[in-house]
Amino acid sequence: MKIHQRHVLMCVGPRCTEDGVRSQAMFELMGRKIDATAGLAVKRTRSHCMLACRNGGPIAVVYPEGSWYHGIDEAALDRIVDEHLLHGREVPELMFHRLGEGDLCAPEQEPQ
Ligand code: FES
Repeated sequence: MKIHQRHVLMCVGPRCTEDGVRSQAMFELMGRKIDATAGLAVKRTRSHCMLACRNGGPIAVVYPEGSWYHGIDEAALDRIVDEHLLHGREVPELMFHRLGEGDLCAPEQEPQ
């Protein structure tokens, strides 16, 4: 396995987005954006439910920082890839949780 600077886990479970379809599409788009960005050494992995569905998908968590992002669309992906994955700066306005700190905002949806 190659050396990676960061690891992104993206939930493609059935509740973040309807049957995970939009999450899967964002996962694939993230791969294309990572591949198109010189200097990135990021591993990305699909996951099933991470028990954070109520925060509104698509959801991804970036390690080692433990930054949980939600509501990921193409514009959000652009920011996450450029600001966080490439330049090491979290995008707090797209986050709902941080490792070691807890929730940063109220959930958008009730638990399912
Ligand atoms: S289905 Fe994605 S966190 Fe639950």
